[in-house]
Amino acid sequence: MVIKKNTKIYVAGHRGMVGSAIVHQLDRKGFTNIVTRTHVELDLCNQQAVADFFEQEKPNQVYLAAAKVGGIYANNTYPAEFIYQNLMMEANVIHHAFKVGVKKLLFLGSSCIYPKMAPQPMTEDALLTGKLESTNEPYAIAKIAGIKLCESYNRQYGVSHGVDYRSVMPTNLYGPGDNYHPLNSHVIPALIRRFHEAKVSNAPEVMIWGTGTPRREFLYVDDMAAASVFVMELEKAIYNKLTEPMQSHINVGFGTDFTILELAKAIGETIGYQGTIKFDSGKPDGSPQKLIDSRLLNSLGWQAKYGLRDGLALTYQDFVRSL
Ligand SMILES: NC(=O)c1ccc[n+]([C@@H]2O[C@H](COP(=O)([O-])OP(=O)(O)OC[C@H]3O[C@@H](n4cnc5c(N)ncnc54)[C@H](OP(=O)(O)O)[C@@H]3O)[C@@H](O)[C@H]2O)c1
Repeated sequence: MVIKKNTKIYVAGHRGMVGSAIVHQLDRKGFTNIVTRTHVELDLCNQQAVADFFEQEKPNQVYLAAAKVGGIYANNTYPAEFIYQNLMMEANVIHHAFKVGVKKLLFLGSSCIYPKMAPQPMTEDALLTGKLESTNEPYAIAKIAGIKLCESYNRQYGVSHGVDYRSVMPTNLYGPGDNYHPLNSHVIPALIRRFHEAKVSNAPEVMIWGTGTPRREFLYVDDMAAASVFVMELEKAIYNKLTEPMQSHINVGFGTDFTILELAKAIGETIGYQGTIKFDSGKPDGSPQKLIDSRLLNSLGWQAKYGLRDGLALTYQDFVRSL
């Protein structure tokens, strides 16, 4: 679909890892009218503030990349904040976008919406077929609610108001702008910090939780941004043909997974760490594999461009800059 370059596009969460990559992608594609607000300027949990913002700006399109995001530790420690804030942000943004006539919106979910025991690789139709992983259930429930909000507005207002709200479910993402906090971060930024500090202090070994055998999938953030714009721009007839009114989300993955050992080696080599990698097999591993099935998106001609090594090199440069 050809979208005019002066279309007014609101990117919610533009200072985050994914939101900033979406803004860059839109810039690269020549879009000239991108609207943003920082968290301080606009708290998306504040319904009145969100209503006022949409009334004032009246954007044509919305990318909803703002969320409260974190690793297992943060999800387990702050479950109330994860479910409350994510539900509020989604409900406020989606409803008030609708109220001012936004026809196109893209909601970013997460692969943690799928049941813990879903067959691998996880296809879109695995949603709501079983129990969720307990550590991030509140976050996952909020993300599922986001998909269902989009679908419900489409079903009720699609014909009458031309509403076309879509959802993408990314696998684990990494890249510049990631959160490198030692406790609250995801596996790649956490390991980048750990290996970097081990290199600087000449530590003889780096210890990693678990056996190193679980398999995980990782997508570089610029690929995610490109996929987001790709899905937003898909012709409505194609999107509708590939999805169903009550199963409308599309997976966005790299397509291949890696063991944690393979990942740790790749990070160690990227950083130039010479010591030994050890695994504490007394610590929990989590699921043996988490891979999403991206064949639906791939069938439309989209493919990830950044290999793991290239993505890690760019991310490490960003980490060093952030010190
Ligand atoms: N990172 C991943 O591995 C991953 C994987 C799958 C899906 N996703 C999804 O991708 C999306 C973006 O994630 P990300 O990694 O880019 O997260 P991020 O770097 O933490 O960015 C999230 C952004 O949302 C903003 N935000 C949070 N609460 C807000 C509020 N109440 N009002 C206004 N802004 C608020 C944050 O601002 P402050 O920092 O100022 O609070 C931040 O700029 C999320 O929907 C996430 O679920 C991410």
